[in-house]
Amino acid sequence: MDKLNIRGGHRLSGDIIVSGAKNAALPELCAALLVAGPVTLDNVPLLQDVATTLKVLRTMGATAERSSSSQPDQVLIDASTINTPEAPYELVKTMRASILVLGPLLARFGQATVSLPGGCAIGSRPVDQHIKGLQAMGADIRVEHGNIVARAARLKGARITTDMVTVTGTENLLMAATLAEGETILENAAQEPEIPDLAELLIKMGARIEGHGTHRIRIQGVERLHSPSVAHRIVADRIEAGTFLCAVAATGGDVTLRGARADHLDAVIDKLREAGAHIESGQSAAGEDWIRVQSEGRLRAVSFRTSEYPAFPTDMQAQFMAVNCIAEGVARVSETIFENRFMHVNELVRLGAHIAVDGHTAIVEGIPRLSGAAVMATDLRASASLVIAGLVAEGQTVVDRIYHLDRGYDRMEAKLRGVGADIERIKG
Ligand code: UD1
Repeated sequence: MDKLNIRGGHRLSGDIIVSGAKNAALPELCAALLVAGPVTLDNVPLLQDVATTLKVLRTMGATAERSSSSQPDQVLIDASTINTPEAPYELVKTMRASILVLGPLLARFGQATVSLPGGCAIGSRPVDQHIKGLQAMGADIRVEHGNIVARAARLKGARITTDMVTVTGTENLLMAATLAEGETILENAAQEPEIPDLAELLIKMGARIEGHGTHRIRIQGVERLHSPSVAHRIVADRIEAGTFLCAVAATGGDVTLRGARADHLDAVIDKLREAGAHIESGQSAAGEDWIRVQSEGRLRAVSFRTSEYPAFPTDMQAQFMAVNCIAEGVARVSETIFENRFMHVNELVRLGAHIAVDGHTAIVEGIPRLSGAAVMATDLRASASLVIAGLVAEGQTVVDRIYHLDRGYDRMEAKLRGVGADIERIKG
């Protein structure tokens, strides 16, 4: 198993190019299942979760490959040759987001079998809302031998109000509704920027969608979507960008994130400013978005509470907690989206952090410095928080089990090395 070896204490300065969003790439790759023809996606990040999704699509009979090595961030998918509308357990168990094939398969082929995602390190994460929504659209859904087996002659438009705001649930139902008969209204829809990005791709395929990016999405189903030269560029990864903002805020330095959208990170940027970092943003003459972060001296600890977009993202909780660990003062960090999403706490404590957990709240008492140690990554964003902590800790930190990091960060250590971090991968 690969590890990261980090020697902390270096200021970061220079430019980092932010990759396309993992959480947009995964549903958009699955959306290609809705059409019998080629779809081209650009700005597809080089990640393990993307590789897994491409494998899921190929297992079903689709063509799903990266373009030539000169354009590695481009992916071509052609789902005209699907012969097995099934996502097997071997792949689903490694990536819960495989559930995103359910809506498109059922809508286009009238049947789908998707292995039921198992337990997950950051809570039970059920998919009942995906199922409930598809049932409201007329699907017959059973769980047989650990698989979700879904059937529908043709889905029918419905008014669906999910019990809670769910990101992949909204995406699954949105994709399914594009081919349903009549109108679907998704109430209580998630508003994360990856959803309007998916909707824009679907609209390019001929879908009729309004209200994406709000709590109510209205879809007029069409008989078929088309794909003569559907091409789409995936929105920038706001969580990757936010992670680098936290890293620079913590280490001190001056870094410009190229391709990153500040308007997708309002809540995180507000908190970093409150902590004392200086952040500005804009667009280059060529139309490229950028965010610049400058940080000097010790930051102030800042309390926050995770919630649905546009509030503070749960996917940034662990990384911001690492910043609080070395800030001045005490911060209360409340997690409201996932149970059991404080697994990084024990590892941060190994680096010397002072953190106490009380139910869904962690109380972080900032200390002047952390000290390097061997730590273990437990999930994707927890890994990122350990990397940030390692970058500021005195001495050497070794982060083990970084396959979690590789699931969702595109060449993170190379990007950090490019701005002056002392970090290397040890192949294991
Ligand atoms: C997505 C993101 C993930 C992010 C999360 C919350 C992707 C691929 N992943 O995950 O990075 O952390 O949003 O912003 O986009 N729930 C149910 N039943 C359901 C669905 C959800 O009870 O059918 C609950 C979950 O357990 C959780 C909450 O609703 O407590 C929100 O989960 P959800 O938005 O669905 O997360 P994901 O879409 O899995």
